[in-house]
Amino acid sequence: MTESLCIRVPRTEGELIRKRLIELRLLDNNLKIKPDGLDLLIPVLKQIEGSGILEKDVFEIRERKNPLTQVPGAYELIGDIAIIDQHEENAPEIAKVLLQHKNIKTIFQATSAVCGEYRTRELLFIAGLKKTGTIYRENGCRYLLDVTQVYFTPRLSTERVRVADQVKNGDKVVDMFAGIGPFSILIAKRFPEAHVIAVDKNPVAIKYLRENARLNKVKNIEIREGDAKEQVKGILDADHVIMNLPHSGLEFIDSAFGIIKKGGIIHFYAISHEDDLFEGLIREIEAHASKSGQRVCPIDRRIVRPYAPYQYNICIELAVLSKVI
Ligand SMILES: C[S@@+](CC[C@H](N)C(=O)[O-])C[C@H]1O[C@@H](n2cnc3c(N)ncnc32)[C@H](O)[C@@H]1O
Repeated sequence: MTESLCIRVPRTEGELIRKRLIELRLLDNNLKIKPDGLDLLIPVLKQIEGSGILEKDVFEIRERKNPLTQVPGAYELIGDIAIIDQHEENAPEIAKVLLQHKNIKTIFQATSAVCGEYRTRELLFIAGLKKTGTIYRENGCRYLLDVTQVYFTPRLSTERVRVADQVKNGDKVVDMFAGIGPFSILIAKRFPEAHVIAVDKNPVAIKYLRENARLNKVKNIEIREGDAKEQVKGILDADHVIMNLPHSGLEFIDSAFGIIKKGGIIHFYAISHEDDLFEGLIREIEAHASKSGQRVCPIDRRIVRPYAPYQYNICIELAVLSKVI
């Protein structure tokens, strides 16, 4: 047993909050979560900004049986392919532990950050089966992809559910930077009466998006290949516009204002410095809105995950209220 900082959450919200803490790298995974009446006490690694004072309690230490909990470094698992972080110096050692897991077949190490227009990264083959294609399961959907040719991260899994939870049957949803489809396909599958328009400029991502639509048997998805500014022209009255291009989303915000309906929601992703996570960006978006004769109300702002030292991947959700009179 050991003492740790912890947060108290209602049992009904425990799983969602546990996942968020993992994404924010705040969960103390060495300790067991503890029930306390109708609540759960979740051990955390440090004080959480904006959460007030944390409690302290005593927790049982977790037994380690799964080899993946002993991996001596950071990695990302996409299907049966593990990608070791760019900055890890002992990739062969990490690969050896990872390959003990029966579901991991191939190990790469990232040799660049995610970069370029298609947001891909350079990967160096380290060990296992030499292949780049895999199938990844998330939120009840399956996705085929090639880890060297398209963008994909499992770290947005709960974020995608959070956005999908806001959609209703009958809605028109435009996913301006859809990649292989993890927002679009989840939404199309959960809401068969919604109409999803999924756009991407990377022809390989589009090829997988089409395959993934077939694989998941979704018919209510319209796939458009090309630059989002061109491809969304002519769309009217979107209920939701998803803008997951965090480094350059602002360049496309005018296009989003061109297609969103009154009362519709823009889900806008960005990378922000911790000194000004939201306010500067909101002011810029408001300026674009008023230029296009619209008015926005930020209805949510959240850190999605840490991105780099002092930088966070954030999401701002804005309701488009009405035309400015
Ligand atoms: C950060 S990824 C997000 C992909 C997907 N939403 C996901 O969560 O996996 C951004 C995507 O935008 C695409 N992209 C970049 N510039 C674009 C543009 N001008 N028009 C349309 N898609 C673009 C990239 O090819 C990439 O697939």
